[in-house]
Amino acid sequence: LQATMIVDKDFTIGKIDDRLYGSFIEHLGRAVYGGIYEPGHPAADKQGFRQDVLELVRKLRIPIVRYPGGNFVSGYDWKDGIGPIGERPSKLDLAWRTVEPNQFGMNEFVEWSTAAGSDVMWAINLGTQGADDARQVVEYANHPSGSYWSDLRIRHGYKNPHRIKTWCLGNEMDGPWQIGHKTAAEYGRVALEAAKVMKWTDPSIELVACGSSFLNMPTFADWEATVLDHTYEHVEYLSLHQYYGNHENDTATFLARSLQMDEFIHSVAAICDYVKAKKRSKKRMYLSFDEWNVWFHSNAADNKLEPWQIAPPQLEDVYTMEDALVVGCLLISLLKHADRVKMACLAQLVNVIAPIMTQNGGAAWAQTIYYPFMHASLYGRGHSLVPLVQSPKYDTKEMTDVPYLESIAVHNEENGEITIFAVNRHLDEALSFKADLRSFGDCTLIEHLVLENADLKAVNTAAQPGRVQPHNHGNAAIGGSSVAARLGKASWNVIRLR
Ligand code: AHR
Repeated sequence: LQATMIVDKDFTIGKIDDRLYGSFIEHLGRAVYGGIYEPGHPAADKQGFRQDVLELVRKLRIPIVRYPGGNFVSGYDWKDGIGPIGERPSKLDLAWRTVEPNQFGMNEFVEWSTAAGSDVMWAINLGTQGADDARQVVEYANHPSGSYWSDLRIRHGYKNPHRIKTWCLGNEMDGPWQIGHKTAAEYGRVALEAAKVMKWTDPSIELVACGSSFLNMPTFADWEATVLDHTYEHVEYLSLHQYYGNHENDTATFLARSLQMDEFIHSVAAICDYVKAKKRSKKRMYLSFDEWNVWFHSNAADNKLEPWQIAPPQLEDVYTMEDALVVGCLLISLLKHADRVKMACLAQLVNVIAPIMTQNGGAAWAQTIYYPFMHASLYGRGHSLVPLVQSPKYDTKEMTDVPYLESIAVHNEENGEITIFAVNRHLDEALSFKADLRSFGDCTLIEHLVLENADLKAVNTAAQPGRVQPHNHGNAAIGGSSVAARLGKASWNVIRLR
C-alpha cells in the first residue's frame, strides 16, 4: 500500500499557537490530591507538590493549564480555597459526589503552574454564581493593590498580581448534568454581563464563552449561534469539548474519530462566521478546544463508586496503544485547523483521563497517550502546512472513505526544522510513504520516531511503565527534498528533518 504527501512552505494553514498544547487539572478524583499535590509523599517538596509528577509534566512543555474545572467549577466557591489552609472548609462537591477539602486553591495552583512552566486558564463559576463573583475573582487575582480583594491576596502572601490572562466563562452550561444548567439565552445574558465587569476590572484579559459539550448535544448549533449573538463583541474564543471512546471494540471506526473532530471544528467555525456576518463585525472568533481526549475505559467503575469520599479514584482510564493512535490523529486534526483553533486542552493531565498516572505514596509514570502529545508539543511548533495527501481508504460501519494515512507537516522557521506527523490507521499492513518537500531544497534527517506495539491493547502500568514507548529506529530516508519511509501497521510516526 502506498501513500504520498506534498507540502510547500508557502502553503501554510496558519501559525500554530503554542496554547494548542494546553492541558487541564480539575478538582476531580486524584488529579489534585494524590496527583499534583500530595504532602508527605517522598517526592513532594515543602509545598506538597510532587516533583516526580512535575518532572513528567515539564517534559510535555505545556503552555497553559485549565483549572479548577470542569463540572466541579459550577458549584465551586473559589473563596473556600484561599487564606490559611487550616481554616478552609470542607464542602460537598455535587458534580462528582465527593468531599472537597479545599487544601489546594487558586494561590497554590498559580505556584504549581509557575513551577510547571505553564500559564493558568481560570474557569469561573457561572452555575451557582454570576457577574458579581466573576468581578471579585478577577480583582483578587489580577488587581495590583488598593482594593478589598487585591489587598486580601496581598495579605495571603501574594504581593504581585497573578496576571491570569485567559478566563473561561463557566463550563458546559448547555448540559443538563451541569449545576446551574442554562438555556442558551440565559447563559448568553449572564456570560455577557460577567464578561463586561471582568474586563472593566482588568481590560487585558481574554475570555472564552461556552460552546456545546459535544457535537451530538440536541442544542448544538443553535446554542453557539444564540450565545454568540449575546457575547460576540465581548469574548475572544468559543469553546468545543469532545471525548471519544471504543465501547464497541471496533478499532477501525475508533481510529477514524478524528474525522468527526474535523467536522465539528468546521461546523463551529461556520457558526462563528455566520454570527460575524449577521453582526457586520470585523472581528474573527477563534476556537478553544478546551476539553478533548479518549474517555471510556473507566465508565463502568465510576458508576459503582461510593459517594462522599475525598479524592477517590475517578475517571482513571488506563490507556492502550490504540488510544495513543487516536490521540495522535486528534492532534493532527487540531494542527490542520491551526488557523482557527488557538487553544486546546488535553483533558486532563494527571490521573483523571490523563497522560500521567500516579500511585498515592508511590510511583508516577507516563501512559501511552503521553508520547504522541509530547512529540506534538515539542516538535509541532511553527506553521502547519496544507497536506496534499493521496492515500488508500477504507469504510467502517459508520464512516466511508477513511484514509489509512493521517498526516501533517509543521515548519518551525525559528530552528529550521520540518516535522511530519503521520499515523497509519491500517491494522494489518504497513504503508509505504513518500513526502515531497519540493520547496525546502535538500533536507537532512534528524530522526524518525515511532510508537507501535504488536498488541493494540498494550498499556503502561506501575509494574510495567515502559511497555509502550517510542523508539527512534524508523527507516525514513532522504532523497534530495523528498523523504520515504515505511509506516508500520497501526503506528504513530514523527519524521524530523532540517
Ligand atoms: O473532564 C471531565 C469532565 O468532562 C469535565 O468535568 C466536564 O467539563 C466534561 O463533561
